[in-house]
Amino acid sequence: MEFETQCLHSGYTPKNGEPRVQPIVQSTTFTYDSAEDIGDLFDLKKAGFFYSRLANPTTSVVEEKLTALEGGVGALCTSSGQAAAFYALLNVLESGDHFISSSSIYGGTYNLFAHTLKKMGIDVTFVDPSLPLEELTRAIQPNTKAVFGETIANPALRVLDIEKFAQLAQAAQAPLIIDNTFATPYFCRPFEFGANIVVHSTTKYLDGHAVALGGVIIDGGNFNWHNGKFPQFTQPDETYHGLVYTETFGSAAYIVKARVQLMRDLGATPAPQNSFLLNLGLETLALRMQAHYRNALTVAEFLEAHPCVNAVNYPALKSSPDYALKQKYVPNGLCGVVSFEIKGGKEAAAKWLNALKLVSREVHVADIRTCALHPASSTHRQLSAEELEAIDISAGLIRISCGIEHINDILADLQQAFDSL
Ligand SMILES: Cc1ncc(COP(=O)(O)O)c(C=O)c1O
Repeated sequence: MEFETQCLHSGYTPKNGEPRVQPIVQSTTFTYDSAEDIGDLFDLKKAGFFYSRLANPTTSVVEEKLTALEGGVGALCTSSGQAAAFYALLNVLESGDHFISSSSIYGGTYNLFAHTLKKMGIDVTFVDPSLPLEELTRAIQPNTKAVFGETIANPALRVLDIEKFAQLAQAAQAPLIIDNTFATPYFCRPFEFGANIVVHSTTKYLDGHAVALGGVIIDGGNFNWHNGKFPQFTQPDETYHGLVYTETFGSAAYIVKARVQLMRDLGATPAPQNSFLLNLGLETLALRMQAHYRNALTVAEFLEAHPCVNAVNYPALKSSPDYALKQKYVPNGLCGVVSFEIKGGKEAAAKWLNALKLVSREVHVADIRTCALHPASSTHRQLSAEELEAIDISAGLIRISCGIEHINDILADLQQAFDSL
């Protein structure tokens, strides 16, 4: 099936007389005829639903669909994007291990890596993703067990050289984990460039309607766990009577272990209602991404030509330093998020934002409704001018997440806000 068709049909094929749409199975438990049936499920001898912390029919439909869209071998949905990144790493890393991450990543992920994982004894080295491979490989240590990056970084809007990071991961004999939230599988499928694991905050474009928090981990099934560095996949798991994941589940060892160990023990499970909403969002993903991209490119071009604007960040602009990377990894579009620096700094930015009428002021991106944010007076307001400069957030930087309204209405609102200055 083509991508658009998979968005509608993958994961659920109703039989004679069954509901056309996968229903919300709002049940924590599932009944069986015998104790042996349930015992086999607990021993992972049979597949089936028994408790919704581990698997639920509504969520399974979405997991199958996302597996198909990314081209992987299996998926695990989580209750948020943060939980997806956390589990994706914890599935390969233990106390005393190390991993390498691009420094150009979402702030929440940065905090998780730099502070929370550190407290658990897991060490990270942040690297500038634009460095040449020879310099990046200097970050590899004997205990390096993962490499992480974002296809399109939030909020920097830098495009990752995924193949270079895949080479870095190969040199470390470690899996490459890519956060593909901003690109979505409609525009980029990281497994095709050598990634091994993909994660998403489904809260963003995959849901698209700003109604359900969620995350997902998708396994590419393309990493060799038998390289001596990952005994947790190749040695017996005592909590399942000595089961060996690579022997029993083959190329899906990673994603099965994430579910039956991490979801079992940590429990960041999505509610079936949220999986239903995510599935609804996914059905129109292709249409929405085309519209987000069309509007964002027009907005970026409008801003680039505007006398009140100093600079625009949008890698689909030919003037962008990342244009060549965008053409390679995201050739048919880009996300709806554009950032720009307004002339007049913090004061002008706040005034412009307050003057918006259609576009809402929000700490969110990827909604079908256009929204905007001034980081220096909101998410980053505790930082000094020097600190903001150090993380490439100028006092006048504004982030717009372009929705799918008619472009004339978006541009008219942006222009009337400029007129108010
Ligand atoms: C790229 C990226 N990854 C992960 C997250 C975290 O996802 P969530 O907010 O669903 O926990 C976000 C949230 O903004 C994000 O933008």
